[in-house]
Amino acid sequence: MLFRNRFLLLLALAALLAFLSLSLQFLHLIPVNPVKEDDLGSKNRKRIMPDPLTETPAIDPIFEAQFYCNIPNIPERSMEGHAPHYFKLNSVHVLIRHGDRYPLYAIPKTKRPDIDCTLVPNRKPSHPQLEAFISHMSKGSETQMDGTLSSMPRYPSHSLCEMGELTQTGIVQHLRNGQLLRNIYIKKHNLIPSDWTSKHLYLETTGKSRTLQSGLALLYSFLPEFDWKKINFRHQWSTIFCSGSCDCPIRNHYLEEEQRRQYSLRVKNIHLEKTYADMAKIVGIPTRQLRASNPVDSMLCHFCHNVSFPCTKNGCINLEHFKTIKTHQLEDEKERQEKKYYYLYALLATHPILNQTANRMQRIAEGKREELFVLYSAHDVTLSPVLSALGITEARFPRFAARLVFELWKDGKKYKEHFIRILYNGVDVTFQTSFCRDYNKHYTKLMCPLEKFVRFVKQDMFSPFNSTNYYDACHRRPF
Ligand SMILES: *[C@@H]1O[C@H](CO)[C@@H](O)[C@H](O)[C@H]1NC(C)=O
Ligand SMILES: *[C@@H]1O[C@H](CO)[C@@H](O)[C@H](O)[C@H]1NC(C)=O
Ligand SMILES: *[C@@H]1O[C@H](CO)[C@@H](O)[C@H](O)[C@H]1NC(C)=O
Repeated sequence: MLFRNRFLLLLALAALLAFLSLSLQFLHLIPVNPVKEDDLGSKNRKRIMPDPLTETPAIDPIFEAQFYCNIPNIPERSMEGHAPHYFKLNSVHVLIRHGDRYPLYAIPKTKRPDIDCTLVPNRKPSHPQLEAFISHMSKGSETQMDGTLSSMPRYPSHSLCEMGELTQTGIVQHLRNGQLLRNIYIKKHNLIPSDWTSKHLYLETTGKSRTLQSGLALLYSFLPEFDWKKINFRHQWSTIFCSGSCDCPIRNHYLEEEQRRQYSLRVKNIHLEKTYADMAKIVGIPTRQLRASNPVDSMLCHFCHNVSFPCTKNGCINLEHFKTIKTHQLEDEKERQEKKYYYLYALLATHPILNQTANRMQRIAEGKREELFVLYSAHDVTLSPVLSALGITEARFPRFAARLVFELWKDGKKYKEHFIRILYNGVDVTFQTSFCRDYNKHYTKLMCPLEKFVRFVKQDMFSPFNSTNYYDACHRRPF
């Protein structure tokens, strides 16, 4: 009874504070930090508490593209680290997509966008730690990194970016991520002891320079001037981080079904086909070849860097072309949610990394004090299936430098009770997950019990395959 009363009192106090804060904001007495996307959309998007995950009424391709670029200009509001004072933070697991990069594909017979991938602290966008980051990356010969990682450049350096190279924007995005996580997890919650060693971290990256460099940028602002000897990045060869458990024929089956769905949606879209034909005529190549060059990847780079689209003597690729392709992408994502192939693919694709994460959390819950901070530096094709498998269907496609964070907390009032929170780009999505959606019935529930996550990973995620384990689900043919 006492707890209940105290809770209600706190609730009332919080409501009063929220009211005061809102009133002050309306009166412009205190500055508001709008969520980043606000500045990028049209002026009438201004809201007091925008929710970037749930507010997507009509598809606005330009707004979505700007959100995807994630141009670092405005301080970000985030919900990471929010918990009642009697909860203790035990560990944090971060899955990131690399930052802004140069295209992976070129549109044939057109000029590549002229973007400089060298790091120049007084060029925008910049970061207060950029200069120190560059200098720190040039040291550290004694670091231990897996195989090919140790010979990779630690920061981008070409004056005309190479294909897929991380840009200065990409570095700045992750310096900001790391700084934000540092302010919350280290300064506020003392996640890492000041005499930390390599065993307190677990770091893993795919073998691309953009993921390694993104991970290093985040880590640098998270643990400034870190001792290189304590940094051990492991190399993950698989983009879905399946490590030693990659053999899964049924996963491939669902991926193929998903690709068939994607194809048939595309060929049904007459407006899109016309757009490709129109662009192909401008460029002077067959439509098939133009489509195969995945022009949207290149166009996004032009768009995010405010570089005009390429022209030829036949005309210019323009914003209407871009809008059509982007709109189709968004429609494709929507249909993907409705048909279940991708979801079934995602469950099998992400079991290994979720299994690892659940195992690490369990070890910490049992009292082990290692791997307190885990960083997986990855790709859109890593994050996207994780979001789908967890059931976070409202989530947007992973933008540049997207971050998905798992927090493990211990309830200081109840012996041995552990809880998790899940945050996507700073938004609390814990109760959007399939395994905790129904748990949020009472307002006193702030987090999701660890067991619910563990049961999902070890067992329930196989039930759509009428199986109880990964091996069976991967091999028993459902057709
Ligand atoms: C984009 O470029 C145009 C000219 O090419 C310029 O007028 C405009 O201010 C730029 N916008 C931003 C946000 O830099
Ligand atoms: C999942 O984790 C368990 C340890 O709890 C391990 O024995 C098993 O091999 C893992 N399975 C996969 C598919 O990674
Ligand atoms: C699972 O079993 C149900 C009922 O027997 C069946 O309708 C469904 O198609 C099965 N699903 C898979 C993926 O095998």
